[in-house]
Amino acid sequence: MKIYKHYNDKFQNVLYCGDCKKFFKEIPDESVDLIITSPPYCMGKAYEDPADDIETFKKQHMEIFPDIYRILKPGGSVCWQVGYHISESCIIPLDFIVYDIFTNLSKDKIFPLILRNRIIWTFGHGLNSVKRFSGRHETILWFTKGDQKIFNLDAVRIPQKYPGKKSYRGPHKGEFSGNPLGKNPSDVWDIPNVKANHIEKTNHPCQYPIALPQRLIRALSDAQAVVLDPFMGSGTTGAAAVIEKRRFLGAELNEQYYNIAFERVSMAMEGTLKIREDKPAIKPNLNSAVAQLPNEFKMAREGK
Ligand SMILES: C[S@@+](CC[C@H](N)C(=O)[O-])C[C@H]1O[C@@H](n2cnc3c(N)ncnc32)[C@H](O)[C@@H]1O
Repeated sequence: MKIYKHYNDKFQNVLYCGDCKKFFKEIPDESVDLIITSPPYCMGKAYEDPADDIETFKKQHMEIFPDIYRILKPGGSVCWQVGYHISESCIIPLDFIVYDIFTNLSKDKIFPLILRNRIIWTFGHGLNSVKRFSGRHETILWFTKGDQKIFNLDAVRIPQKYPGKKSYRGPHKGEFSGNPLGKNPSDVWDIPNVKANHIEKTNHPCQYPIALPQRLIRALSDAQAVVLDPFMGSGTTGAAAVIEKRRFLGAELNEQYYNIAFERVSMAMEGTLKIREDKPAIKPNLNSAVAQLPNEFKMAREGK
């Protein structure tokens, strides 16, 4: 497998160092299955212009939307991971803005963008505020282009807290009430964020954990799908895509971050990248009989 620096239709993975708006021009219409990204929040980060404000955020999104829409296949998905813009003590949920722009700009098209989930990503660490409740979540908006979609729920099921629970009434009385393969992970995802001692930490100031795009990739695309991250930062989406045997397209403006992304995607291709496994924190009462995994469930998970 090779990493190309420019689009090539024989590509496996393409990492572009430059403005995503230029990269989009190289990507053919309706050629991407899944877009996952976290754009700049215009909050004075090292990679942002200090003059950028909420109007800059809106303008950037209006500018890139036509290409995002054009290159996405009908039935493809877009996952936009954002938090809050804070200005003069006022917090602005960026997903409200993204939702308005994406739905308004696509509403008259044959395949409008349809919001399927607003996923709350919650994490344990962050700045401690004394003026309001400390922020411990961001969101991911999952849209599909039109009515069709891919949703591989079995690929992302998580263990039940009490897998041995049985139905106590109705036609299935006495049978296990849960799915043998695990439960739906819901739209609230508790995944540790990447802080200093996280195994995946790089020099990028705003990395998300690999587990986040990995879950989206497993659920919302099939093997060999083309996954794009136009603001790839340290290449987290790319590493997840490679691990999940998808093809990856990514752009990053800043050369230092681009080099980190290149190295991480290369390591993912070689199988040497260290990742924190997506292990949901469940703390059942182990003395309880219903906390034990039934043999039937064990066999189903082992594919027997
Ligand atoms: C929030 S960070 C993404 C972090 C990424 N999810 C990760 O896990 O590392 C946004 C990134 O977009 C990059 N960026 C900003 N404007 C860009 C543009 N026009 N084209 C490509 N990349 C851009 C920034 O340099 C920054 O690294």
